[in-house]
Amino acid sequence: MKKKVAVLTSGGDAPGMNAAIRAVVRTGIYRNMQVYGISHGFEGLIAADMVEMTLGSVADIIHRGGTILKTSRSQAFTTDSGRLNAMESLEKNHIENLIVIGGNGSIKGAYEFSKLGINTVTIPATIDNDIVYTKTIGFDTAVNTALEAVNRIRDTATSHGRIFIIEVMGRDCGEIALSAGVAGGAESILIPEIEPDIKQVIEKLEMGIARGKLHSIIIVAEGVYPVMELKELIQNHTGHETRISILGHMQRGGMPTAADRILASCMGKAAIDYIAAGERNIMTAGFDIRVRPIPMQEIIHGTKTLELDLFEIARILAR
Ligand code: F6P
Repeated sequence: MKKKVAVLTSGGDAPGMNAAIRAVVRTGIYRNMQVYGISHGFEGLIAADMVEMTLGSVADIIHRGGTILKTSRSQAFTTDSGRLNAMESLEKNHIENLIVIGGNGSIKGAYEFSKLGINTVTIPATIDNDIVYTKTIGFDTAVNTALEAVNRIRDTATSHGRIFIIEVMGRDCGEIALSAGVAGGAESILIPEIEPDIKQVIEKLEMGIARGKLHSIIIVAEGVYPVMELKELIQNHTGHETRISILGHMQRGGMPTAADRILASCMGKAAIDYIAAGERNIMTAGFDIRVRPIPMQEIIHGTKTLELDLFEIARILAR
């Protein structure tokens, strides 16, 4: 009897999810397994919306953003009855292993689901990079997309001598803001992990203006400070024209970077290897090609800490 594995993508899409699906399907077939693709995340699992995947079903997707399996943020799966229906979908198709590619919320859902007895393996994929013990698939691309936007905005900011506030995504995590801010040479970076000090932001701007600086860029992680209010405060104190740019979902789309494709390929392969080796209810974790299995329980209870050294570097360099 061939081992059966189902794979789905869940939560916000992330560039590199397709590369992970490809790696799961191709490694599964290589290891003589039957691999099923579930559409629309946990919603599709509840509805038993699945097809058997072939080598050809994942052709020509390694470079594409989004997810060919589609995704959802399923409310039904947060309930006991939703998860029981999902389990029935797998049982009636004699599938004993599920691979979930997604972010924090999806991993929590997968962990709850694993308690019903189905072996559940997760692959961390979210632009937010907010999962403990690992880098997440999609983060590198999102940072580079945000950085590209910062570079472009810098051109127009310099031309007009304006201050720009650029809001980036990240939910409750400042990783995208911090990385794009350091790489983009932002004057100030506001992240949820550090109480925003608006007085200091304005003082820094004033110091810059005093030494003849033509423009300034402030990166704000979403939800940290209302950007309209910040704009008014800055304009009133500095007398300089200030503009806002909210990058939004453009950070989620687009072609994955090489780093994300490689991470996704390694993690997708590792997920199947772990299933073949009898590992249960783990997440593939890693920062490069060295992937290791970590029990989902540890992931759920771990606390992600931001690299605050990077914040200090940004503070010293941006003057
Ligand atoms: O988790 C990824 C993410 O893009 C967050 O950065 C953001 O807060 C959220 O999803 C937006 O979710 P939605 O696409 O459902 O509006």
